[in-house]
Amino acid sequence: MTNDELIRWRDEFPALEGTVYLISHSLGCMPQKAAAYMAEYLEAWQEKSITAWDDWLPEVERAAERVGKLLSAPSGTVIMHTNVSAVQALIASCFEYTEQRNKIVYSELQFPTVSYVWKAEERRGARVEIVKSSDGITIDTEALCDAIDERTVAVPISHALFSSSYIQDVKAIARKAQAVGAHVILDCYQSLGTIPVDVVDLGVSFACGGSVKFLCGGPGAGYLYVRKHLIPKFEPRVTGWFGHQRPFAFTMPEQRYADSIWRYMAGTPAVAALYQARAGAEILGEIGVRAIREKNKRQTARVVERVDERAFTLKSPRDPEQRAGLVAFDFVGAADIARELNRHRFYCDHRPGVGIRISPHFYTRDEEIDLFFEAIDSLRSGRGVSFA
Ligand SMILES: Cc1ncc(COP(=O)(O)O)c(C=O)c1O
Repeated sequence: MTNDELIRWRDEFPALEGTVYLISHSLGCMPQKAAAYMAEYLEAWQEKSITAWDDWLPEVERAAERVGKLLSAPSGTVIMHTNVSAVQALIASCFEYTEQRNKIVYSELQFPTVSYVWKAEERRGARVEIVKSSDGITIDTEALCDAIDERTVAVPISHALFSSSYIQDVKAIARKAQAVGAHVILDCYQSLGTIPVDVVDLGVSFACGGSVKFLCGGPGAGYLYVRKHLIPKFEPRVTGWFGHQRPFAFTMPEQRYADSIWRYMAGTPAVAALYQARAGAEILGEIGVRAIREKNKRQTARVVERVDERAFTLKSPRDPEQRAGLVAFDFVGAADIARELNRHRFYCDHRPGVGIRISPHFYTRDEEIDLFFEAIDSLRSGRGVSFA
């Protein structure tokens, strides 16, 4: 019997009851405190009208500090946005392309939204180079590094790949990028909250992600980190009055960029989402990602065992050191089975060409993993599924 210290946090997540919740890589469970924080936001709006901004604007800073701590980012280097797509577009708007330097390098296992943003940069003179994966699970670090040269502007990469959970060797990639004057933009969506992240140590220029998944914060609370010495360097074309030195001076016509991280803000921040995301970020900060990582490694190993017992195809790395929060696996008919599992509240997802993805989180019981695979067995043999 494992001594599972973290299981006591289940009390903060009543929504887990009556489900087998293995979908935190896509939608983290709602903490009950989120409702109280949302009520606080609404009360300020109702009771204080325009003066609610005296509460709301500091909350934008506090939200950034909370996420910043998880990223091990220095104070004042993180700003809140709505999602990764918006952040990537904002970062892309920081760059100019010349004939000598116009290359964008990333892998074919990139989350598609990021590719959509950078492919569109080709209309402005960029040239995208996509590095292939040899196995559909991992990306060869050397191959990626070889593609980064003196012509490279930006290297948008995922810390952990959304399809397989493979953890990229970010340090090596950032080292190569730095050596040739290129910038790594790290998408931490599938790493933050499940493996320790230290953006300074990793050496990246930018990092981003959102709160929907392992941070248990719901949609709308994305984040952007900019390496401290780079903050004043760029003037993003995607901008707005909250990025101005003095937004409430309402000066015209040009932008005068703030000196702080606020220069990477565009329009009015989506404050409600930050209240919604507060509980999750607080809980993760309190638990500490190191403890989550230890538990996750043990439980993803259990998933791999169950996958092997059934001779399903593993679509994630076998080595736990290379694997972040989720495990992907496939078998014939997996898409239909995933749909049925969700209908019975065994929460998981299915991605074309990948298979079923599941993720234990700090609130997961070992038995849930076993129940999940028993449910697959039942459905495959035509029997029904029900909770005990
Ligand atoms: C690695 C990664 N990046 C980005 C996203 C989502 O991007 P956005 O925040 O723009 O919806 C996801 C999943 O939804 C993801 O897994």
